[in-house]
Amino acid sequence: MNEYLRDDALRHQNFKFNMTSLILYQGQVIGYFTLLADLIEIKKLNMYDYNKIIFKSPFKTLPAVKLARFAIDKKFTNIGLGTEILSRILLSIYDKSNYIGIRYVTVDGFAKAFNFYTKNGLIPFKKEEQKLNKINKIIKKDPEKTISLYFDLYNYKKFLMLLMPYYI
Ligand SMILES: CC(C)(COP(=O)(O)OP(=O)(O)OC[C@H]1O[C@@H](n2cnc3c(N)ncnc32)[C@H](O)[C@@H]1OP(=O)(O)O)[C@@H](O)C(=O)NCCC(=O)NCCS
Repeated sequence: MNEYLRDDALRHQNFKFNMTSLILYQGQVIGYFTLLADLIEIKKLNMYDYNKIIFKSPFKTLPAVKLARFAIDKKFTNIGLGTEILSRILLSIYDKSNYIGIRYVTVDGFAKAFNFYTKNGLIPFKKEEQKLNKINKIIKKDPEKTISLYFDLYNYKKFLMLLMPYYI
């Protein structure tokens, strides 16, 4: 993750391939995340979400934003910072979805971060389902194996309406 920030992030950003934001604490970089536009095929959603959307959407693909990279400095992990920052990222993407159509947030996460993402409301894509019953084995054997997940901003809207009706 550090290598990406050092070697590639600025170049990618200059080409508008993706955008990286730094997380600062007392003037020091303690993490970063990278976002880019994405598109998902609705047939790749899990069965429940697919059945929910298939009759509503005239489109086979729907717009999304991908959280391509997300890292917190080891010194600051496991104190709830990742959860807090992820919720701010989701809220800021939700804000943008009031101006640009965005239905989902997607993540190609490392297996070792799978529990972190699912605890924070992300759902694995259908193709990942067979990996789920051996997730602990995968985390042990290949912690950086990619697992793709998504977050539905429409459900988030309902959640925000309940929790923060003044915000909507
Ligand atoms: C994944 C990552 C961003 C999570 O950040 P984090 O700051 O550690 O996240 P949190 O502290 O909110 O949550 C991490 C764990 O701490 C626990 N936790 C949350 N708040 C806590 C608190 N106040 N005290 C103790 N533990 C806490 C959570 O339950 C979570 O447990 P889990 O591993 O079982 O999910 C970070 O570990 C990281 O940078 N990893 C390396 C890069 C990476 O894997 N990125 C994701 C792939 S793109």
